[in-house]
Amino acid sequence: RTSTLGFEGRVAVVTGAGNGLGKEYALELGRRGASVVVNDFGGVLGAGGSTSAADAVVAEIIAAGGSAKPNYASVEHASQIIDPVMEEFGKVDILINNAGILRDKNMLRISQEDWDDIISIHLTSAFKISQAVFPFMKENKYGKIVNTTSASGIYGNFGQVNYSAAKMGLVGLTKSIAIEGRKSNVHANAIAPLAASRMTEKVFPSVMLEKMDPKFVMPLYLCHESCSETGSVFEVAAGWAAKIQTESAAGAVFAKSKDEATLESVQEHFDALCDFEKDTVKLNSLQEATIRVMDAIMK
Ligand code: NAI
Repeated sequence: RTSTLGFEGRVAVVTGAGNGLGKEYALELGRRGASVVVNDFGGVLGAGGSTSAADAVVAEIIAAGGSAKPNYASVEHASQIIDPVMEEFGKVDILINNAGILRDKNMLRISQEDWDDIISIHLTSAFKISQAVFPFMKENKYGKIVNTTSASGIYGNFGQVNYSAAKMGLVGLTKSIAIEGRKSNVHANAIAPLAASRMTEKVFPSVMLEKMDPKFVMPLYLCHESCSETGSVFEVAAGWAAKIQTESAAGAVFAKSKDEATLESVQEHFDALCDFEKDTVKLNSLQEATIRVMDAIMK
């Protein structure tokens, strides 16, 4: 296969690449010439302790003529993943923070451990691994980070307060990394995927799952040198993708002085400040959002 969008000479780290989506990213990066570090601590849905998942993907990449190394550390140990890569390759060009687990329970049942595990594996680990590669990416004036968020985070979901909080946290993490990395050509984006995997096999009907093969590799485009997108969030599923952004209602003034700022005046204007029918505003940066509030105050 001749690849027009090649990754020759690039070093890519994909976490949780032993199964599901991460596996497909790793295989495709390998096919397209990258040296791929296949991280996965094995096990089923977060149990860990096995080398077989990462080894199988590495073997598949090598059998197809590519270059890959396994890494068996939990994403909670950033340096155990990044130090060996730096030692061997001296750089990381691409980081896909993809590893994930579920601890779904409703609000009343969720334990401290259910909360801590999810925040740690999804959010804290993505931060720490990104922080570990960031200085090298900045120094090289090149870096592509893709974080994995979820529609559950963006919109909320029953039984997933921990997962939703971590996934929405990843949106903020991604946007701020993008701002800090922009000058040094370090790009960060987030994807909210939908794909058939161990994680979703019990969630969607089989007719849907058949269409949601994880082989749709849209996030890899965000990792290619020809793509300068940064700070964005995409929903991705089954060959379809859409960038999403924040839209705000036009808003309404409910008080022109401190004395007018009563609960009753909020109640009176509540429908107006929630009105998305006309004059909505699309906001893409903190500056835009701040200027808008300042404008409203000055008026
Ligand atoms: P999966 O369960 O098939 O694959 C996840 C992989 O991560 C597994 O191989 C697992 O061993 C590995 N992993 C888990 N914890 C790890 C740790 N501490 N250290 C290293 N590896 C670890 O799941 P899938 O569906 O491929 O999910 C990938 C990412 O996409 C996750 O972040 C998930 O939250 C996210 N996602 C997936 C959706 C879907 O529709 N499949 C929907 C929304 C988000």
